[in-house]
Amino acid sequence: MSDLLSHDDNRHKTQETDVVAQMRLLINTLKKHNHAYYVLDNPTIDDEQYDALRQRLLALETQFPDLKQADSPTDQVGDKPLAAFTQITHDIAMLSLGNVFSFEELSAFIKRINDRLDTKNQNPEFEMELKLDGLAVSLKYVHGQLYQAVTRGDGRVGEDITHNVRSIHNLPQVLPECAGIGLLEVRGEVLMPKAGFDRLNRENGERGEKTFANPRNAAAGSLRQLNPAVAAARPLAFFGYSVNQGLPNHVETQSDSLEYLRSLGFEVAPFGTSSTPQGVQEFYDDVAKTRASLPFEIDGVVVKVNSLSLQNDLGFLSREPRWATAYKFAAESAITRLLAVEWQVGRTGQLTPVGKLEPVSVGGVTVSNVTLHNFGEIERLGLMVGDVVSVHRAGDVIPKVTAVMLDLRDNAVSPIDLPKTCPVCASAVILPEGEALARCTGGLYCAAQSKEALVHFVSRRAMDIDGLGEQWLIKFFEMQLVRTVADIYELAEHQDLLMTLEGLGEKSVKNMLAAIERSKNTTLPRFIFALGIRGVGESTALNLAQHFTDFEAIRRATIDDFLAVPDVGEITARNIYEFFHSTHNNEVIDRLLASGLMWQATTASMSDTPLDGQTWVVTGTLSAMGRDEAKAHLQALGAKVSGSVSSKTSALLAGEKAGSKLEKALVLNVTIISEDEFLQLLAQNGRMVSTE
Ligand code: IVH
Repeated sequence: MSDLLSHDDNRHKTQETDVVAQMRLLINTLKKHNHAYYVLDNPTIDDEQYDALRQRLLALETQFPDLKQADSPTDQVGDKPLAAFTQITHDIAMLSLGNVFSFEELSAFIKRINDRLDTKNQNPEFEMELKLDGLAVSLKYVHGQLYQAVTRGDGRVGEDITHNVRSIHNLPQVLPECAGIGLLEVRGEVLMPKAGFDRLNRENGERGEKTFANPRNAAAGSLRQLNPAVAAARPLAFFGYSVNQGLPNHVETQSDSLEYLRSLGFEVAPFGTSSTPQGVQEFYDDVAKTRASLPFEIDGVVVKVNSLSLQNDLGFLSREPRWATAYKFAAESAITRLLAVEWQVGRTGQLTPVGKLEPVSVGGVTVSNVTLHNFGEIERLGLMVGDVVSVHRAGDVIPKVTAVMLDLRDNAVSPIDLPKTCPVCASAVILPEGEALARCTGGLYCAAQSKEALVHFVSRRAMDIDGLGEQWLIKFFEMQLVRTVADIYELAEHQDLLMTLEGLGEKSVKNMLAAIERSKNTTLPRFIFALGIRGVGESTALNLAQHFTDFEAIRRATIDDFLAVPDVGEITARNIYEFFHSTHNNEVIDRLLASGLMWQATTASMSDTPLDGQTWVVTGTLSAMGRDEAKAHLQALGAKVSGSVSSKTSALLAGEKAGSKLEKALVLNVTIISEDEFLQLLAQNGRMVSTE
């Protein structure tokens, strides 16, 4: 991360002025987000993105301690309290916790403790708790009565939120056993359980009211309500984690103080103890496994020296205790820089942008490539090469760019352009209007799409070369014997080589070549279908063949000509047109034709449109085809297809389990055609129906 803000070595900014400029930029950005978060309760980036920015500043401050800015927010806990609430100075400052992220860092934390402890106190027992993801609150009970509740605020001064915590259902208002204790201060976390958060957001969403980014923000927003009735309606909960004043003398450890809190009626989250780093690690691992199934959110484990007297001996650093640390789960977000975008071509021709990142650790894994999905996503994010981005990776989910840090954008960024030609085969790239996915038009030629195109070409419903199995085809592709479908018809030239391949004897090669030869005698619809044009299935191939009757006419046709073909819409018309206007595809097609492919001239059926002027309805389940296909055939024969039976209906095509439409047709005396009769009708009109 140390060169996060530099593009490359040439621009490596090690000069003091540059470091200070980076620090100032980060400080100002953090301050803006602090204010939005702590004072306005309206964060504009998520917690992890914020943490990543803060980590970046901390890294610079560690690397260049002399340049640390006096107003750095890394020294502060939170932000100034909101003026509308009464401000209360804490009797004892409410501090923060240091962080560790790995077993090594945990061991270093434990070593630092051992280094400060006497020989007799080495390897003290540790107590481990859940790090609850809510807000720290201090509660004061006077003679057992809840007297005051205060937020952490900036650690020194917080806000009086007594009116709002009184309605938290699991927070005891009276502690009968503490009637004799003048002042008892309990600290803990107010949070919103996941189920309550989901419900609140759903209900607020339905009412068109504000929804919250996460349970923590929802809890914070609820505690900051000036109207206690609003807070009372929010599903909050309190978990105690320490007694800071008034603890009975017999309680000597952190774990006992949690038991004590429990005995008083406070809810306390699960905890454990261990004297070894391995034991602490085991607790952490167990918690990490159950994290997702917990009813509330946590972001790690808090590790505390169990003995309260040792805690006292160890004392505090400026903003955190020496005797405790947060062993946090790997951040699922990090910020880094987008260095470049490369375009990958998928097997069906779609172009996928892949972001090349300055390597960054996210969720415990180093990420240097990230899919940007499609051009639409780049536009949605407003992303440019050189931008500082937030990358998210949760669990095993693939990493994702979730946001662009516009605050950190400098003028060295450059726009991400969709390539005009395919990076693999240089054919034209098209991005149909309103679509997010760009595609290479060189379907027959493009190496990225070749395997898919080859397998489709030989398949049974296309050229039907049954003697050339998929495995051999792929093998020939990998041997570079077959790169495009036209090469299939030149395989005979490599006969001798083929016979030397293991598993391919003379006989099988002969059979294979004979099957290839046989396939040359085909039909125009099969050939069109075999070309694998996007959106052109068998039924459309048939419609094209019957509409144009001549292959050369199809090659010359305009988009408007294609739109006149039944079943062909704007997108398919464009796809077909682009396909036949790719120079590369045409090279392959010319070679195919030159190799001797032939088909009977397609006579447009006896009458082109024998069902002209008729209106048909299709109902029930057909066994030979889907209803859409049947509809396309009918339309190709000139019929209109309607969704409901009326006295104007010419015929009802009724498949299995036909229901009310069949009844209505019987009542109205409409001609009823069975599937068999329909197939005969199609056959009579030269329409091919596959029999798979
Ligand atoms: S003890 C002096 N225990 O973490 C240390 N804190 O980053 C006092 N937190 O402000 C904190 N779960 O809001 C402690 N089991 C736990 C905790 C916990 C969550 C929060 C708390 C605190 C922050 C420090």
